[in-house]
Amino acid sequence: MNVLAKAADLEAAAPAGAFVQEVTSVQHYTDRLFKFRMTRPASFRFRSGEFVMIGLMIDGKPLYRAYSIASPSWDEELEFFSIKVPDGPLTQHLQKIQPGDAVLMKKKPTGTLVNDALIPGKRVYMFSTGTGLAPFASLIRDPETYEKFDQVIVTHTCREVAELKYGLDLVEETKNDPLIGELAQEKLVHYTSVTREDYPFKGRITDLIESGKLFTDLGVPPLDPAIDRGMICGSMEMLKDTKALLEKAGLNEGANNKPAEFVVERAFVG
Ligand code: A2P
Repeated sequence: MNVLAKAADLEAAAPAGAFVQEVTSVQHYTDRLFKFRMTRPASFRFRSGEFVMIGLMIDGKPLYRAYSIASPSWDEELEFFSIKVPDGPLTQHLQKIQPGDAVLMKKKPTGTLVNDALIPGKRVYMFSTGTGLAPFASLIRDPETYEKFDQVIVTHTCREVAELKYGLDLVEETKNDPLIGELAQEKLVHYTSVTREDYPFKGRITDLIESGKLFTDLGVPPLDPAIDRGMICGSMEMLKDTKALLEKAGLNEGANNKPAEFVVERAFVG
């Protein structure tokens, strides 16, 4: 299989309508998860929480997958948090990228996990599993999120403790950031749980919502459509099950053209 990940090769072969960007750093967390950062085209604008198509040229053809942008809209680089699937058509190759390599990025970002798709409220919950944390990694570094909400609660549930590391490092860095550190210290709450290993907080987020343990642990009242807002990002099943619980609590699903109490997006990639 011929995979192009060198800038000169990709520039020569890149399809029209795609940027060729240089990878600036790569960090592997587990055999299933890694982060990479890359240069940002000067003309590229997006709203925190949106996703974009990332790809490589494989056997002469571009292959793309949707990736949530994990960096905030003010950052001069772009960050992504990715799964590694051993036989995943894209990620089996993408997981091998090194700083200095290049990747393709389509020019148009999109997505519903944006502040604009929620009506104002007091508290926003960002429910994530696995790499579903990525859009929230963007939103919790955006001052607009803290302008809009008094409290920002990010939940991250993974199979194993080691898979929480990206989020734990991110929240620590965010709370120490010169631009948004103070706001994050005041308003950001990070709730982590693990399903397949011992950990102080155990269980699927859906079970923790249903039993009420999430709210007891956080010291907040149960979900209230008058003040609580939600964003959900994870596997298809997780989206469906979490959405059902928010609807049961009286929250309605919104979209860019019809803001409401919660929004949903699939954590793509395979
Ligand atoms: P579990 O270990 O019980 O399957 P994955 O890596 O497969 O996407 O899973 C990430 C996390 O999401 C795991 O902790 C997993 O729990 C949890 N999860 C999987 N399916 C659901 C679901 N339908 N609702 C809530 N959480 C889920």
